[in-house]
Amino acid sequence: RRVLVVNGPNLNLLGRREPEVYGTETLSDLEERCRRTATELGLEVDARQSNHEGVLVDTVQEAMTGHGGVIINPGGYTHTSVALRDALAALPVPVVEVHLSNVHAREAFRSHSYVSPVAAAVIAGAGVTGYDLALRFLAERLVRPA
Ligand code: DQA
Repeated sequence: RRVLVVNGPNLNLLGRREPEVYGTETLSDLEERCRRTATELGLEVDARQSNHEGVLVDTVQEAMTGHGGVIINPGGYTHTSVALRDALAALPVPVVEVHLSNVHAREAFRSHSYVSPVAAAVIAGAGVTGYDLALRFLAERLVRPA
């Protein structure tokens, strides 16, 4: 019942980075929120952030054995990374792709995701609440596997 929560590039700047798009909560606020929600749902959270594609691949690979599910906001790598998608596709556990902003209401290049086809669920535009929703989805999935 341990869930891996992965935030990709530039999400370390949350709260300061385009707050009108991404909100004012910092990354540590967000991670704290995830831990709180997870506890309520009987889950445990392992929270990671990296700006580096290869580090994100290594982190995702940890969930091959160590976690019951993965929540990932791949940031800009959403729209570029075949390697990250391949790492996620290899996982035997459900993946939820989360975006703070509604990527479909922004520049056209943000509408395409390499990750979505290998995700069990995709949540965009719900801000930090999207992570709560993702945890809730995984809590249901983990007790009642499809
Ligand atoms: C994002 C959306 C991406 O297009 C962007 O590159 C990000 C953040 C989001 O959470 O809305 O870095 O994933």
